[in-house]
Amino acid sequence: MPTSNSPSSSIRGSELASDFTVSLDIDRRMYREDIAGSIAHAEMLAKQGIVSDADAEAIIDGLQQIREEIESGQFNWKPELEDIHINVEARLYELIGDVAGRLHTARSRNDQVATDARLYVKRVAAGSRTACRHLQRALLDRAEDNIDTIIPGYTHLQRAQPVSFGHVLTAYVEMFGRDAESFSQAHKSSDVLPLGSGALAGATYPLDREFVAERLGFSRISANSMDAVSDRDFILDFIFAAAKTMTHLSRLCEDVVIWSSEEFGFIRLSDAYSSGSSMMPQKRNPDYAELIRGKSGRVYGSLVAVLTTLKGLPMTYNRDLQEDKPPMMDAADTVAASLAAATGMVGEMSINHDRMKAASQGQEILATDYADYLVREHDLPFREAYVKVAAHTRGEPTGDIDLPNISATESLATRDIPGGTAPNRVRAAIMRAYGELGAAKLAGEW
Ligand code: ARG
Repeated sequence: MPTSNSPSSSIRGSELASDFTVSLDIDRRMYREDIAGSIAHAEMLAKQGIVSDADAEAIIDGLQQIREEIESGQFNWKPELEDIHINVEARLYELIGDVAGRLHTARSRNDQVATDARLYVKRVAAGSRTACRHLQRALLDRAEDNIDTIIPGYTHLQRAQPVSFGHVLTAYVEMFGRDAESFSQAHKSSDVLPLGSGALAGATYPLDREFVAERLGFSRISANSMDAVSDRDFILDFIFAAAKTMTHLSRLCEDVVIWSSEEFGFIRLSDAYSSGSSMMPQKRNPDYAELIRGKSGRVYGSLVAVLTTLKGLPMTYNRDLQEDKPPMMDAADTVAASLAAATGMVGEMSINHDRMKAASQGQEILATDYADYLVREHDLPFREAYVKVAAHTRGEPTGDIDLPNISATESLATRDIPGGTAPNRVRAAIMRAYGELGAAKLAGEW
């Protein structure tokens, strides 16, 4: 039982907490961050002579024991204590008695929860960035093996021009590279310590905020206590990065759904990433791709939820802010699971070179190449060449001009320009992307 000074009686009154205000199911996932923050705070209080070394030691030992209890499943969570912060503090009272009450000196749950959330976002942003790098690697490996694989390139989902399949996959590598950078940005905006801001106005004790920042791995401390307890922009940055990543994943998955359809037949998904139908034995459904595509909606919803929660808040902390964590965590879970599934799916899909090639044959898909030929060899203005080729595809006579046979392979080879689909250019782009991935590895991103 908590002693008489424990937060369950002194902060909440006895039975006041109702289910409506409880956030424990969600914020208990931040227990590591919460305990790490408390330990750093206790160390700093002792270093500054605000609490005795002996008291700080008792507090830190107690917090470490609580962490072990949580990790081994022994911890007795009490929803009536509302959130992770009060649960930990109440248990600390049980373990070390009234000394526990010294931990909250110069601290409020407002700067505490902001610190926890920032540590949490730093962790999940780094994890999502790593997952982006793994997906890039999987795409690049498939791209490298398919530089000379020809596939129709589409605009408006109409066959447009033949391209290298490696070029298509490398386009996605670019997207997930930008996403990795967005997660770095979210990490950076989270990397600011709010502790020391108190409830809103700062603290009356001689705190060493830089020391706490260093202990917790923050590279900066917040500059304004009122902003610090109510700023959730770092959560917006993270969810936006996750939402953008989901957009790219959803596009990739849409392509996968199309390519794996019987009509296209360009790829075949492995058993692990497809499933049969309970009714139609011939079916091979791209469930993973569809679920990733579908889950993008949840992450967009999370972004809008947090934006909306923040928009009407007066200074400073308001309880509305507790609603930041469910979308933050759901976005983190969803993007992590989706990136991992996409990585496996891409790595295991098999490629039907013949079907891709067959779809890239014929005169129509080479219409631009014929127009370019007329410009090059007959010095026609491009618009005129275009009209002639259009007439030719309709079966009308093209006058004195003979059109040669152009192959899809030749078509690719002539797009020999930086960023183009000529195989040598695709190879160079893939090598550059491998180089960037290698640099990201050296930087510890994955
Ligand atoms: N559970 C709260 C949250 O997530 C912790 C902060 C509570 N602070 C307060 N002044 N009621 O926002």
